Amino acid sequence: MRTLAILSRKGGTGKTTLALHLAVAARAAGLSALIADLDRQHSAMEWARVRGPVGPAVEPVKPGALFTRQQDARRQGLDLLVVDTGPNIEGDVEQATRCADLCLVVTRPNFFDVRAVADTAALVERIGRQGVFVLNQAPPRRSGVEAPVVVEAAEGLQGLGLPLAPIGLRARAAYQQGVAMGLTAQEIDPACLAAREVTALWRWVAAALWPMPGLERRPEPADDVRPVCSA
Ligand SMILES: Nc1ncnc2c1ncn2[C@@H]1O[C@H](COP(=O)(O)OP(=O)(O)O)[C@@H](O)[C@H]1O
Ligand SMILES: [Mg+2]
Repeated sequence: MRTLAILSRKGGTGKTTLALHLAVAARAAGLSALIADLDRQHSAMEWARVRGPVGPAVEPVKPGALFTRQQDARRQGLDLLVVDTGPNIEGDVEQATRCADLCLVVTRPNFFDVRAVADTAALVERIGRQGVFVLNQAPPRRSGVEAPVVVEAAEGLQGLGLPLAPIGLRARAAYQQGVAMGLTAQEIDPACLAAREVTALWRWVAAALWPMPGLERRPEPADDVRPVCSA
């Protein structure tokens, strides 16, 4: 079993959106996945209530109980544990980081968000876990040109201790529409751009979680879903 922690000390960056979309992508790839909802606001649980009994399962887990739940999940033979965290509580983020094989530190491409991720990156480094920044809600390219805010964010993230994942998610209505229906973007339209970038991100995450010697980790993105700029 592998554990993926989704982190950022700011609210609204897209942690829960990423947790849900990646867990659903994992299931579509034939893996069993559980989302541990550490956020006291329990957004992932709300989504699960709308979704009904179709997986992935979402469970509220107290941060102090995460390690035990992780051991149980391993015993149950689960493939993937996705840990969705809340904002602002360093102790919770630390628990999630300690349990993780890979940490996704989510940030939107704006000055305040980028400045706010430095602490989280330092924590991931201090605990010695593998971690990457993931840009979320990046504006789509216009005429093939990356928006200046995205370029600046990618530059701002350099030197903060973690690499930038080669795939990020753009700001797209499909993410909001899907979640509001208890679904994900890839379930409302598997051919939409959001679905394709989620698939590309999932493939990259899966290759990082289950590295195969000799395989190139960087996925070939779909034609018009090129990776979010890495400067
Ligand atoms: N890539 C995206 N495109 C459009 N809207 C997004 C995207 N990611 C997140 N959102 C929206 O932003 C808001 C905050 O996202 P959420 O996942 O709840 O953030 P967090 O869990 O970090 O607080 C939600 O309304 C969500 O639908
Ligand atoms: Mg959330």
